Amino acid sequence: MLEAAQLRPGARVLEVGSGGYNAALIAELVGPEGVVISVDIDSFVTERATRFLAETGYPHVKVVLGDAEHAADDLGPFDVILVTIGAWDCPWGHLLAPGGRMIVPLRFGGLTRSFTFVRDGDHFAGLNPTVCGFIPIQGAGAHLENLAVLVDRTVNLLVDAGPALDAAALGRALDGDRTEYWTGVTVGYDDPFDTLHLWLAAQRETFGVIWADPERGSDRIEPAMRWFTPALITPDSFAYLTMGPEHQDSESGERRYELGAYGHGRLGDDLAR
Ligand SMILES: C[S@@+](CC[C@H](N)C(=O)[O-])C[C@H]1O[C@@H](n2cnc3c(N)ncnc32)[C@H](O)[C@@H]1O
Repeated sequence: MLEAAQLRPGARVLEVGSGGYNAALIAELVGPEGVVISVDIDSFVTERATRFLAETGYPHVKVVLGDAEHAADDLGPFDVILVTIGAWDCPWGHLLAPGGRMIVPLRFGGLTRSFTFVRDGDHFAGLNPTVCGFIPIQGAGAHLENLAVLVDRTVNLLVDAGPALDAAALGRALDGDRTEYWTGVTVGYDDPFDTLHLWLAAQRETFGVIWADPERGSDRIEPAMRWFTPALITPDSFAYLTMGPEHQDSESGERRYELGAYGHGRLGDDLAR
């Protein structure tokens, strides 16, 4: 994120979410001519960050207590806004100076991607989505995700919005028959395919994620990945991305896996297809 921010000596930077350490790194990168303001909603965090920054030679970093939704409204403009909390929105665009960059770990449908936002005419363009994880934002920007926990607490389904999920109906759907679709698309052992998640997230508002509790384990689902496997989820039906057994590519000899989808419940077939 620091690289994406392209911090230059003398830059004015807003860090959303404090701790001290990252603010010290930013202070090093912008140098003595730069300005670093770090905002946190938690007084324990701001007091500790203020003390640690003073003790370690960064007393000029300004730490502000408040909900970052509006706490920096009178402190802009900034050349860089670096958000270190998972956010569902970016209410900081108006604080950005011309040519500025805003780095935000954006949460949507249970996924988080760090985007670099730059102004492009009358809107912002989001560049270089990068897989990452941050704790969710609190305060005015907090967002209640829609979670259903099934099968003795081992299987979790999560969507961002939409009607409440019916855990009992989804549990019955999982108990019933499943529809299987295979795509003919294969991935290698180490091939990242997180851009597929972004594509799926843009297709349907029912996009969400499924995972099994790693502590309890579950053989009831076979998700393509252990964590945050893409799924399409309605109140009583769902489908998710799965991976076939390992096979060897006849030409390269490489280990490969076919991507597929399993559907459950009344709409399972349609969602999987
Ligand atoms: C991952 S930590 C930040 C890490 C920090 N940048 C560092 O260098 O260690 C996320 C922080 O965001 C804060 N936070 C959560 N919601 C907030 C909000 N609405 N406004 C400001 N801070 C918030 C939390 O209190 C927490 O300290």
